[in-house]
Amino acid sequence: TSNQMWGGRFAAGPDAIMEAINASIGFDQRMAAQDIAGSRAHAAMLAKAGIITDSDAEAIREGLLTVLSEIDSGSFNFSTALEDIHMNVEARLKEIIGEPAGRLHTGRSRNDQVATDFKLWVRDQLDATDGALVALIKALLAQAEQGADWVMPGFTHLQTAQPVTWGHHMMAYVEMFGRDLSRIRDARKRMNESPLGAAALAGTSFPIDRDMTAEALGFDRPAANSLDAVADRDFALEFLGAASICAMHLSRLSEELVIWSSAQFRFVTLSDRFSTGSSIMPQKKNPDAAELIRAKVGRIFGANTGLMMVMKGLPLTYSKDMQEDKEQVFDAADNLMLALAAMEGMVKDMTGNRESLAAAAGSGFSTATDLADWCVRALNMPFRDAHHVTGSLVAMAESRGCDLPDLSLEDMQSVHCDITDDVFSVLTVENSVASRTSYGGTAPSQVRSQIARWKDILA
Ligand code: ARG
Repeated sequence: TSNQMWGGRFAAGPDAIMEAINASIGFDQRMAAQDIAGSRAHAAMLAKAGIITDSDAEAIREGLLTVLSEIDSGSFNFSTALEDIHMNVEARLKEIIGEPAGRLHTGRSRNDQVATDFKLWVRDQLDATDGALVALIKALLAQAEQGADWVMPGFTHLQTAQPVTWGHHMMAYVEMFGRDLSRIRDARKRMNESPLGAAALAGTSFPIDRDMTAEALGFDRPAANSLDAVADRDFALEFLGAASICAMHLSRLSEELVIWSSAQFRFVTLSDRFSTGSSIMPQKKNPDAAELIRAKVGRIFGANTGLMMVMKGLPLTYSKDMQEDKEQVFDAADNLMLALAAMEGMVKDMTGNRESLAAAAGSGFSTATDLADWCVRALNMPFRDAHHVTGSLVAMAESRGCDLPDLSLEDMQSVHCDITDDVFSVLTVENSVASRTSYGGTAPSQVRSQIARWKDILA
């Protein structure tokens, strides 16, 4: 038998394979609540505009509420023959209320309907991501506050560079996730225009009120071009783009946690709640959550690339290719939320090992730059010469197997006769970090003012 929604011009029903490749109900049922919200807004508008009667609108409203409760309770029977969530809902509505159900689709198409549903879904997801990012940022702020003046090595090339503070390192991630948050908020603002009423692609001759449906669904305004409204998936791509960058940040932090929790580093101890054991090696405590977060950037970036590929060659307006937008977005959204929650938990629970951090901070000649800077200030040496003198002292310390502060004044003077005892004051890591007071520098005073700034922003 031919399809009850569009079968008028068909003599035969679809092949089973046709039905299988065409159906999206297996995944787009996740948009049921959005679909019903859109239909309720549309029906109320049709009645207000005098396009359907108030009693039909009331029957549709009540019927849709029944459908929603059936879906929520799990008693709804989704049908593959009915393709997608839009037709499943409408067909069930017809079973419940009869003839008025057929009037709901006046002045509307599945093209503007699906664009509306999906936008509402992505918008909800942006809001959820916003909340999860704020929670993660707060967890990082708490770590930064606790260890604002703890010293640790700062790295470039994963080689010891200069001492920094734990608080400063945590705050670097606050900046990254803060930018992710602003990307999410920008995307939400830009996407918040209603496609509903664009109909199939050209608009409609019915006297619909698109401002009314836009407002009912929490959009700022109706989308201004009906062709664009049904063809646009930028909103999903912006979400995936922002999600990809955020996942990349999560992955970098994960990588650090994996390294830091190793026996060789011991910078942090992860909590039992966010670690796993080994079935054979009893001593093992593995950072699996961090590793899985590190891996998830792959599928999120894959979704971004995947949807870009779906969209890039499509002529205006709607093509069925666009049905392939949802699974990738759903998967990316689910995994981003999971990754954010796991990272928040790990960061909240982890213990920075102050002693190991401090011991590492002082090794690897981390205050060599301070020594060179001292030569510039105290001896009025050009920085390039100071660099050279310091390099010789590092080589001397290295050959003796000691650190810079362990060299004697005589050792120092054998390289440059003007060096005085005062040099030792800059060779401690505490003095080194305390001196980095330039704006955005690692000095605890700077870190504390950045923590205060972020607390203000989030308040
Ligand atoms: N299931 C479809 C999708 O997800 C709904 C829109 C169908 N529109 C159409 N003209 N066939 O894109």
